[in-house]
Amino acid sequence: MFDVRKSSPAVAALRPSEYTAALIQALRAEPSRVSGVRALEIGCGSGVVLAVLGALGAASLCGIDIEDEAIVTGQALLQDLGHKAEIHQGDMWQPVAGRRFDLVVANLPHFPMDHFEVAGRLSTWSSGGIDGRELLDPFLEGLSDHLAINGRALITHNAFVDVGRSRQILHRYGLSLHIAKTLLVHIANEKINLMTPSILRAEEGCSIHRYGPHVFADMHIVEIAAAGTRS
Ligand SMILES: C[S@@+](CC[C@H](N)C(=O)[O-])C[C@H]1O[C@@H](n2cnc3c(N)ncnc32)[C@H](O)[C@@H]1O
Repeated sequence: MFDVRKSSPAVAALRPSEYTAALIQALRAEPSRVSGVRALEIGCGSGVVLAVLGALGAASLCGIDIEDEAIVTGQALLQDLGHKAEIHQGDMWQPVAGRRFDLVVANLPHFPMDHFEVAGRLSTWSSGGIDGRELLDPFLEGLSDHLAINGRALITHNAFVDVGRSRQILHRYGLSLHIAKTLLVHIANEKINLMTPSILRAEEGCSIHRYGPHVFADMHIVEIAAAGTRS
């Protein structure tokens, strides 16, 4: 059994977020689409999304993260919960070059801000660079090389990080993007204060909603698959 009393600062830094919860909810809503699949998670962090995929009956589990804390923490969690998984340290698609998966999931760092540590997290947790797309673009550009026939991806996508641009990129690779769900997430003041000012100005009143000191934003769960294959 996983003993929370043994939780280290690394485990605390990798604690799941509202985004993680939303991704898990979307996976749990359609267990038959997870059962039996070869699953890959890019940016597996705590390993909890892989654990959910395992609990839902994925045939194999593969995770990638850039941070060695994530590798150690994820491996420990999956082992404790009795799931077999390969977890690789590396950058984005590099550890799975030449391999394809039925289901690719990701909750990438894609908050538009420079590389800062926020709320006890590592700087690689949230920051997507000035436009938020530093990780998102290479993910979308590499996806078609890693999807099996009839494969799909399920990812979190902040509404203020230009969903239209993601659609355009995917279109070039014969993939299409469908917004499966939109949720409201709370954005801590500490984080909103670091947001790229031009994006904050453009999105306030659109996808960013401020009520006094409290700020919320729209976040999508998007599904990506070969164009024309969505049932
Ligand atoms: C927002 S967290 C999501 C973690 C986990 N999937 C979850 O939902 O709790 C983003 C994760 O991406 C990882 N990451 C950042 N840059 C990466 C890169 N270039 N390649 C692979 N993983 C990366 C971070 O270390 C972090 O664990």
